[in-house]
Amino acid sequence: TRAVGDGDGAEVGNAAVPPSQPSPRGGRGYGDAPWPGRKGLWAAGAALVAGGIGIVAGLLGWRSAIAPVSLSAPVAYSEATIERGRQLAALGDCAVCHTAPGGARNAGGLAMETPFGTVYTTNLTPDAETGLGRWSFSAFQRAMREGISRNGHALYPAFPYTAFAKTSDDDLTALYAYLMSQPAVHAPTPAPQMKFPFGLRPLMAGWNALFHDSSPYQADPSRSAEWNRGAYLVNGLGHCGACHTPRNALGAEQGGPAFLSGAMVEGWEAPALTGAASKSAVPWTASSLYQYLRNGHSPRHGIAGGPMAEVVRELAEVPDADIRAMASYLASFQPDTSEARADELARQAVANAQLRRPAHGAAQRLFDGACAACHHDGNGPTLLGVNTPLALNSQITSARPDSLLRTILEGVREPASQDIGFMPPFADALDDRQIAELAQYMRARFAPQEPAWSGLPQKVREARVHAMAQSAR
Ligand code: HEC
Ligand code: HEC
Ligand code: HEC
Repeated sequence: TRAVGDGDGAEVGNAAVPPSQPSPRGGRGYGDAPWPGRKGLWAAGAALVAGGIGIVAGLLGWRSAIAPVSLSAPVAYSEATIERGRQLAALGDCAVCHTAPGGARNAGGLAMETPFGTVYTTNLTPDAETGLGRWSFSAFQRAMREGISRNGHALYPAFPYTAFAKTSDDDLTALYAYLMSQPAVHAPTPAPQMKFPFGLRPLMAGWNALFHDSSPYQADPSRSAEWNRGAYLVNGLGHCGACHTPRNALGAEQGGPAFLSGAMVEGWEAPALTGAASKSAVPWTASSLYQYLRNGHSPRHGIAGGPMAEVVRELAEVPDADIRAMASYLASFQPDTSEARADELARQAVANAQLRRPAHGAAQRLFDGACAACHHDGNGPTLLGVNTPLALNSQITSARPDSLLRTILEGVREPASQDIGFMPPFADALDDRQIAELAQYMRARFAPQEPAWSGLPQKVREARVHAMAQSAR
């Protein structure tokens, strides 16, 4: 191991709290914002934070700094450890958040908008002045488990340390080894611009006391080794719940039946991953989850074309056995469905959509003119890309139209892989009224079992705002 470091490892709790399980009843808790929680409630949150939690914060106060170390000692991690760290960094999407548009990889500076203000990702390269260059392993471990920076200030949970805390010491060591092996880049992190009172970092001590469990993952001995591996990856570095679990008013992920029950991220819906909350036409099986996570596409569901595409591109670095373990863990939240049965349900959903064509003159012509060249009647031969039947797409079976509207406006420009194919944006070609009619028609046509969406015109306006913010990046 490495020569540097102060040795006195950060205190690691040992309370075993297994990840929350959804109840069979389930619940659809669609939150309305990404991190953290609903905008309309932030004022209430502010009052609560300033009033109640402030007292806790005062008691817990600032945390001490961990002494800086000098990097003059040679790095002594093995190549194998560094390589494992690289794969773990991909699973954790470190570079996705810690790289500014056009900036050096992992040098930070990406602005993250939250209802509480704007926070910038930090420099994870080993630069001594602006990055992790003077961080001992203990300082890194404390940041990942407790959300405390080396100098003692609390970090905001836009950094998913609430999930990363589950990571084992071995894996944290590999991550640290990898981060320290990168070229150092001098890049100061812009100061966050938080709304009052969230600029006061000590308040986070109260938040952590309420919502954060810093203990590493504890295996559930009643489950298989593969299931436990999957749970460790999904709820730890994979931080899948950061997008797929709805949050409360103070931005903490909800537990119980809300776990992985679907949430909104940057105006996209991260669909429910539990059978109880899922609106998917066909239940997910371990093999369809594996295909989706490995290739960004499942023939029984569709593609990763929105924010999930980036996640899948990073997962390409993750070993097959780990992808299988995550799929097997996630499948345990789905009804037990054989592959043959799932294929049969997919055939039925497609046939059902063929039988019940709505009489929608103008919208039908719009679909035929703008979409049918590639999508045929929603289920044509594969001329371009993978062409999954639209009747299986969770954007169309979902309780909310947001993701379908984003696809129509923005097309599929950065799919998880090239073979998925590309779709042009229609933001300029179609006006709001046409897009609303088209979405309504597609819902009736390809998800006839579901009720019509309401409030579409307003939803189209909102989707346009999100799409414009996206293209401005
Ligand atoms: C969803 C976005 C996101 C992801 C993914 C992410 N981070 Fe961060 N990270 C942040 C933000 C934002 C901050 C700054 C928080 C603050 O200033 O309070 C941060 C801060 C940190 C810090 C504290 C640095 C300092 O100077 O205090 C460390 C260490 C860190 N991240 C490591 C990682 C590692 C390692 C990974 C991958 C395993 C990772 N992060 C993935 C958003 C992210
Ligand atoms: C940055 C936010 C984000 C993270 C992190 C994330 N997802 Fe997703 N996920 C999404 C969004 C948004 C979608 C909707 C489709 C899209 O974006 O292409 C999605 C779609 C999916 C789907 C398809 C669901 C359906 O019914 O179509 C699966 C399965 C999935 N994600 C699994 C995972 C797993 C497993 C992880 C953790 C390794 C994960 N996601 C992490 C945002 C995220
Ligand atoms: C030039 C070809 C082309 C045209 C025209 C086109 N698409 Fe697509 N579309 C694709 C490809 C390729 C994909 C990705 C592969 C797949 O899902 O089959 C896709 C995917 C989709 C998806 C699924 C996206 C996801 O992330 O799950 C929807 C929904 C969709 N298209 C709707 C439409 C609508 C509505 C129109 C007309 C306004 C349209 N498409 C026009 C090529 C096209």
